[in-house]
Amino acid sequence: MGGSALLVRDLSVGYGPVRALRHVSLEVPEQAVVTVLGANGAGKSTLLRAISRTLSFHGGAVTGGTIGLGGRPLDRLPPDRVVAAGVCQVPEGRRVFARMTVADNLRAGALGAPGGREARARALRRVHDLFPVLAERAQQRAGLLSGGEQQMLAVGRALMAAPKVLLLDEPSLGLAPLVADRIAATVREINEQGTSVLLVEQNAALALRLASHAYVLEVGEVTLSGPADELAASDEVRRRYLGVVDEDAAADASQARTTHPTLTRWEA
Ligand SMILES: Nc1ncnc2c1ncn2[C@@H]1O[C@H](COP(=O)(O)OP(=O)(O)OP(=O)(O)O)[C@@H](O)[C@H]1O
Ligand SMILES: [Mg+2]
Repeated sequence: MGGSALLVRDLSVGYGPVRALRHVSLEVPEQAVVTVLGANGAGKSTLLRAISRTLSFHGGAVTGGTIGLGGRPLDRLPPDRVVAAGVCQVPEGRRVFARMTVADNLRAGALGAPGGREARARALRRVHDLFPVLAERAQQRAGLLSGGEQQMLAVGRALMAAPKVLLLDEPSLGLAPLVADRIAATVREINEQGTSVLLVEQNAALALRLASHAYVLEVGEVTLSGPADELAASDEVRRRYLGVVDEDAAADASQARTTHPTLTRWEA
């Protein structure tokens, strides 16, 4: 069996000539929630695609580094074997099968998963407990669900494979704050049930509340990492990702303007 710690070492990724990740190292310890923060284009989705081995569908390739789960390399596996090994990704933008029913979407999530009918029934019970609406709407087409419900379905579909590690790509994107909070509460519950989570988010406030560890990705490189509460308290993260205006710095700046009249010399 081995453990379920996910270890990324020195990972570099390119899309043709575009280098999207450079020497990224990161760890998701067993049963942890770890978050990766970063602006648009920082490489967050690329990181998840590299782990789930779906980069080639997007024209990308790993150019260096290693990825392992519980000491087992994932690097050479096809995507379905990564799922079987215990790593499932919820892609950016949900991407449920809109014309299929909710029940069929969930069934699709169990394809390639280890275990037989009993394991599938157990996984479905878990998903219905977490998201009762998916049981109520089982026979409805997925495309008719609200955005929040589609995100629940996307998460539920990934859980059908009973992963050890769940990769979540911006689950709160485009959702109203209350709906995003519900998703966040569910992520916490999923984690408490024993699944570790690698959460990619632009909503830093939400992500830092959920995670024990956080990494900041900037233009393909990890520029900051540490315990989530320490990052949440750092000026850099507060200013750039939490939108907190540093009042002391603002006061210093206005004082500087009044006490240094030489700054007006350009007006002459
Ligand atoms: N399929 C692709 N082909 C070529 N370049 C790509 C492709 N996907 C992403 N990139 C480039 O790789 C870099 C990282 O993109 P990525 O989508 O991983 O960022 P992201 O952090 O997920 O951004 P967002 O917050 O907008 O989702 C960007 O420069 C982007 O333009
Ligand atoms: Mg992305």
